[in-house]
Amino acid sequence: MAYLLGIDVGTSSVKTVLLDQSGKVVATASPEHSFSTPKPLWAESNPEDWWKGTITGIKQVLGDAKITADKIEGVGLTGQMHGLVLLDRGGEVLRPCIMWNDQRTAAQCKAISQSVGVERVVELTGNPVLPGFTAPKIVWIKENEPEAFAKVTKILLPKDYIRYRLSGEYFTDVSDASGMSLLDVAHRDWSGEMLEACGVHRDWMAEVTESPVVSTKVSAEAARLTGLIEGTPIVAGGGDQAAQAIGCGIVREGNVSATLGTSGVVFAQSDKYRVDPKGRLHTFCHAVPGKYHLMGVMLSAAGSFQWYRNTFCGQELKNEAETDLDSYDILTCEASKISPGSEGLIFLPYLSGERTPYPDPEAKGVFFGMTLRHTRAHFTRAVMEGVTFGLKDSLELMRELGIRPQQVVASGGGAKSALWRQMMADIFETPIVTTNSTEGAAYGAALLAGVGTKVYPSIEVACEKTIGLTEEINPIEKTNIYKERYSQYRKLYPSLKDQFAADFK
Ligand code: XUL
Repeated sequence: MAYLLGIDVGTSSVKTVLLDQSGKVVATASPEHSFSTPKPLWAESNPEDWWKGTITGIKQVLGDAKITADKIEGVGLTGQMHGLVLLDRGGEVLRPCIMWNDQRTAAQCKAISQSVGVERVVELTGNPVLPGFTAPKIVWIKENEPEAFAKVTKILLPKDYIRYRLSGEYFTDVSDASGMSLLDVAHRDWSGEMLEACGVHRDWMAEVTESPVVSTKVSAEAARLTGLIEGTPIVAGGGDQAAQAIGCGIVREGNVSATLGTSGVVFAQSDKYRVDPKGRLHTFCHAVPGKYHLMGVMLSAAGSFQWYRNTFCGQELKNEAETDLDSYDILTCEASKISPGSEGLIFLPYLSGERTPYPDPEAKGVFFGMTLRHTRAHFTRAVMEGVTFGLKDSLELMRELGIRPQQVVASGGGAKSALWRQMMADIFETPIVTTNSTEGAAYGAALLAGVGTKVYPSIEVACEKTIGLTEEINPIEKTNIYKERYSQYRKLYPSLKDQFAADFK
């Protein structure tokens, strides 16, 4: 029996998943790490913490699975996208990684867009330059930390830094590279014009390949530290959203998924390259060779719910630590007793600014419409509804571009809640389905490793063999209440936009 290892370098943990070739999960580990917010709008993480988590995770799954490492056919890497890792000549990290949810680069985005031309940037990269993306972070370093910039010899994305530690080599894949504002997404290679505009030397960039390609092999040093066998193949892998989509079986034209993780993502596979003319949706290469995907990304989805619980539900958190009572179960059970629409209470989930549909680092979270009638249960429900309205914004943009989902595959921590899944079906007005694959991006990365090492002939076959539907939830809400509430929700951002900006100064 062949085994496959998937490693997801996430925002708060390194998730490691070991599968057998039938797709059965044999062992998992998720050593946690933290990230810091040294200033408002900033988010930074220490790459050395990811590497420590990778070593711990690999050792743990090997121990738990009780298999010898020579049974592992290949390793697939995935991770948080857009993060900037800078290395010096000696391969040392120059400063903490500037992460995907860091919003400090509004001025740099504007400057790049003005120098290259707004339309030309979209022509070259399929997307506008957005603050979360990598290129404006490089320009920020050039302007604000010139000593560090002068020492740069390599620019890596988070999962590619872990590849470097595992193999000593520099590679990336087209799906993750799509989020840098440096890739010519249509032609699946670096854009010379964008590299030049951002002051980036071509040889600072890793070689870019399709996702299932075997890029490198585990080095002797990494084998000693992790327990893997020297020479185990490592495939290029994918950005966490592309890998997550593979882990949910989103590999054919028109397949759509919605992920309720820290960020919230609506993802649609597209066989052809198509671009939202207004740049609100991302157009990226998929991890399926030659294919693309459209994607809308909310920065605080289940992350909004986590913030709400951590900030306002201290007692439930305390009980959770002392008993078996899950704090989220208690909150969602309360919320399920409130009628759809939360009796007029609306939550705007822009706690870290927003990306889709409003690329606005200054947007803020809002509770709107509070009255004496509203209890905590209303607030909980309003948070869940507000996040779901945010996902619907992306789904509507996809419908505008001609994507007609017959169903939406739900995944991520938030989708574990039956209330939230039903809410998605009612608000999206589409059946919601779930799959047996619950390990997300790490699972998708392991499947990519299986394709690269010929355990499976293609990604489509890998998904057919391993992923099945487990549940279908149909819309049941018969009133127009969600439609009305969504239309009120849509009006709030435009009317508050200027206030968000003024308040920020
Ligand atoms: C995708 C995005 C996030 C991060 C973190 O564009 O920014 O989903 O990849 O998971």
